[in-house]
Amino acid sequence: MTVMKKILVATEKPFSKETTNYMLDAAKALNVEVQLLEKYGSREELYTALKDAEGLIVRSDKIDQVAIDTAPKLEVIVRGGAGYDNIDCAYAKEKGIVVMNTPGQNSNAVAELTFGLLFMMTRKKFSGKQGFEISGKKLGILGYGNVGRRIANYALGFNMEVSAFDIFLKPGQTGNEGVAYCPSVKELFASSQVISLNIPATEETKKSIGYDLMMSMPKNAVIINTARKEVIHEEELAKVLSERKDLYYVSDVAPTNAQELLEEFGDQVFFTAKKLGAQTEEANFNAGKAALEQAAKYLNEKIADFQVNK
Ligand code: 3PG
Repeated sequence: MTVMKKILVATEKPFSKETTNYMLDAAKALNVEVQLLEKYGSREELYTALKDAEGLIVRSDKIDQVAIDTAPKLEVIVRGGAGYDNIDCAYAKEKGIVVMNTPGQNSNAVAELTFGLLFMMTRKKFSGKQGFEISGKKLGILGYGNVGRRIANYALGFNMEVSAFDIFLKPGQTGNEGVAYCPSVKELFASSQVISLNIPATEETKKSIGYDLMMSMPKNAVIINTARKEVIHEEELAKVLSERKDLYYVSDVAPTNAQELLEEFGDQVFFTAKKLGAQTEEANFNAGKAALEQAAKYLNEKIADFQVNK
């Protein structure tokens, strides 16, 4: 009899019930055992559960060196989602542990939320005050991956002029004739009334959105951040908001100085109560299902789809 390997699903912010039920049901057919650890109250609970896990599935849960060191049998970590800045990928590599994400599985949810957040600002938080329209306005997408591409398509439907910058993007490669290639971040900000941030948090991107870029935006500028709070230079954002009363910052990831910004610039900022970009039935299910399948495939067949720490 083959021994089934154990996958720990450790989520401080759990997947939906539908998703975890699916995971528990599908486990046998995928030849793995699934253990759930949801809304854990302490790191110790996580460490204890990790002791005999061969696979680990997480969302934004922090998996650092200490966590990895408490998991001697661990072979694979799958981040059910796109961003993996919560995982110490280099240390995992050193320990021979494969790290994967599930690209594209929750991107539609984030793309849809982007417009919800945009309208929140253009319609002055639905207060009844006079707002402005997005039709005919220029949208610049910074980070043209799965989310950025979907946002571009939806924006074209709203009659926006769309351009995109991505370090991996080359002229003529936006894959959509309605989406213009932009050669630099500087040009993207200077030419766009609306900017959507869809970049990962890396050493290069952290604090990369600063005073000069934000100040260069045209009148009635909106910056939408559904990426990570770390990419914004928070102190410089406060300075920009005080100097540009027509500039709005809306974010699914409240900045560290959220309270101060809300008190001083209440009309110009909006932050979701907690990160909810991927909080839809569909995104939850797709990301959870893909994470389980990928983890099981690696544990049973050593096939590493979407490995991010090669
Ligand atoms: C992602 O990187 O996939 C999103 O930010 C969603 O993160 P979450 O799973 O913590 O909601």
